[in-house]
Amino acid sequence: MGKKVTVVGAGFYGSTTAQRLAEYDIFETVVLTDIIEGKPEGLALDLNQSRPVEGFETKVVGATTGPNGEGYEAIEGSDVVVITAGLPRKPGMSRMDLLGVNAKIVRQVAENVAKYAPNAVVIVVSNPLDEMTALAQIATQFPKNRVLGQAGMLDSARFTNFVAEELKVPVASVKTLTLGSHGDTMVPVPSKSTVNGKPLTELLPADKVEELVTRTRNGGAEVVALLKTGSAYYAPSAAAARMAKAVAEDSGAVMPVCAWVDGEYGISGVYLGVEAEIGAGGVKRVVETDLTDSELAGLKEAAEAVRAKQADVADL
Ligand SMILES: NC(=O)c1ccc[n+]([C@@H]2O[C@H](COP(=O)([O-])OP(=O)(O)OC[C@H]3O[C@@H](n4cnc5c(N)ncnc54)[C@H](O)[C@@H]3O)[C@@H](O)[C@H]2O)c1
Repeated sequence: MGKKVTVVGAGFYGSTTAQRLAEYDIFETVVLTDIIEGKPEGLALDLNQSRPVEGFETKVVGATTGPNGEGYEAIEGSDVVVITAGLPRKPGMSRMDLLGVNAKIVRQVAENVAKYAPNAVVIVVSNPLDEMTALAQIATQFPKNRVLGQAGMLDSARFTNFVAEELKVPVASVKTLTLGSHGDTMVPVPSKSTVNGKPLTELLPADKVEELVTRTRNGGAEVVALLKTGSAYYAPSAAAARMAKAVAEDSGAVMPVCAWVDGEYGISGVYLGVEAEIGAGGVKRVVETDLTDSELAGLKEAAEAVRAKQADVADL
């Protein structure tokens, strides 16, 4: 049997994720679901009609779901489920402003995922990301390594893009890393960032690096302010789709993700942005990297900020 991946939520993030996953042509089926009747079916029909042009065989299936789990049979047997259901930010909002409304949605979705796709790896993207990842684990009761969140790949991609534009070099020559939360306590890691193998800190003055770090931390808000009606989805969907691919292919790729941290960096018992090896079972292991004292302090601060909020989500 070929692999099956489900994307819950057929909004901008979900539909672009489904498109990327289908175009990889490594899955037998991509299922796209939403609560808006006809929307996932219509998008699936449209995506399937792109198959002859783009040259992929993956079949896209759309399914409308109801509040009591109606329609969730469509996700049965999924190897991976990407949860994108939930409201995006509007200009001036923080991700944390979405906590209450998205918690209800993510809990309901996660409970149905547990029922209909009990062996799936769950990749959460709904915001606020770290808290929604923790909530999805609580609601599914899946092992912690089988529930992870997407943030670090996107934040690192933004940082990389800004560095490449600043230095006028190809993005492929730049490597950057961001850890911590997908929010105010994001920890871009200049000490692990390089251009053609040379440390970024030797190529740009400290104030310029700091400027790019700040722009990275505000990268989502910058797009929201321009769009006015929603949030980013091209770069976010690219990141989530790569994570789902790593799971489906059991590749062991190391990527920054929101993962359960249990002792690494002296931090325990919290979902946090760290590098991890991703494979068939989700997170194979968290990969620790050397950080400067201030980066490590930033990561610990992020852990405590997320921990405080994650303690609340169990009751939402
Ligand atoms: N983690 C990240 O890096 C990152 C980046 C960008 C956006 N996001 C988040 O992703 C989420 C989706 O963003 P978007 O731009 O696609 O928003 P969107 O409004 O375009 O789409 C959201 C979709 O979710 C659907 N939905 C709502 N409740 C549902 C339910 N119970 N079951 C199934 N579907 C349901 C809606 O009908 C809608 O179609 C938001 O919370 C946003 O903040 C995260």
